[in-house]
Amino acid sequence: MNAPIIRSLDALDALTDAWRAAGQRIGVVPTMGALHEGHLSLVQRAKAECDRVIVTLFVNPRQFNNPEDFARYPRTEQADAAILAPYGVDALFVPTGDEVYPPGHATTVSVAGVSGPLEGAHRPGHFDGVATVVTILFNMTRAERAYFGEKDWQQLQVVRRLVADLHLPIRIVPCPSVRAGDGLALSSRNQRLSAKGRAQAAALPGVLFDLAGRLERGATPAPALAEARARLADLGFAPVEYLELRDGDTLGDPLPGRPARLLVAAWLEGVRLIDNIPVTLPQTATRSSLGAA
Ligand code: PAJ
Repeated sequence: MNAPIIRSLDALDALTDAWRAAGQRIGVVPTMGALHEGHLSLVQRAKAECDRVIVTLFVNPRQFNNPEDFARYPRTEQADAAILAPYGVDALFVPTGDEVYPPGHATTVSVAGVSGPLEGAHRPGHFDGVATVVTILFNMTRAERAYFGEKDWQQLQVVRRLVADLHLPIRIVPCPSVRAGDGLALSSRNQRLSAKGRAQAAALPGVLFDLAGRLERGATPAPALAEARARLADLGFAPVEYLELRDGDTLGDPLPGRPARLLVAAWLEGVRLIDNIPVTLPQTATRSSLGAA
């Protein structure tokens, strides 16, 4: 059976009131739809850990810094409801724009620091939009747990910071990136690539994994990163917006003895692709050897 589609907050409240009265744990999987196996892995995890699972589907205008990107974001509600059918989701919450942002809405949630670099620098306002909608969706669903993909690593860190700083009564559960057989992280944007572009795109994780290996074997970050950026450019990625080695939590400079992360954003055939992977820096790494990253 398709997941029941709930469009109003009143209807959602009626469900969650009953679930909470019965002492059931509610999990939420926030999405913008165009669901694929990456989203479904979050849903499966939520189903395994919670009594009730709400998937939200809302293409949030406030997190698109580019109106054209918002306009052409895929909207496939019926297909999304069908793809969720085997997973036993308790509600597919599809609020209207007015329900999420009622007339007169004037509040923005802004997470300083971790929102600043990388995606934040290239997509101004993006994380304010994400932090605001995620706070609203947490409050609307009154979930105890929320499931987020590591695919959007910086988003995950922004949401963790937000929850900690505002003492929101919800636990954030990170879920590993789901990749296609050739290594490309699944994304609704991949559909916009031609067959040739889709084949080329697998080079993006290829370069990342290769670079992570070199860094783990002790390569000096600055030249290794520069070489990997040049390789991506040679492979047809244009522009390479960023390829950086950062601290895994703060997204600031990498520090010896702390989990680090490689993060990339690069364009191919007019499609913006992002990816990230962990790096375990060698014990011998020092602040100055990393500082030049
Ligand atoms: P969306 O891009 O639809 O992603 C919804 C969730 O699915 C996010 O937590 C994202 O990290 C996760 N996801 C996407 N691709 C994945 C993959 N290949 N492997 C694992 N997880 C993956 O991210 C958003 O929507 C929005 O910003 C949102 C949080 C819903 C706020 O509007």
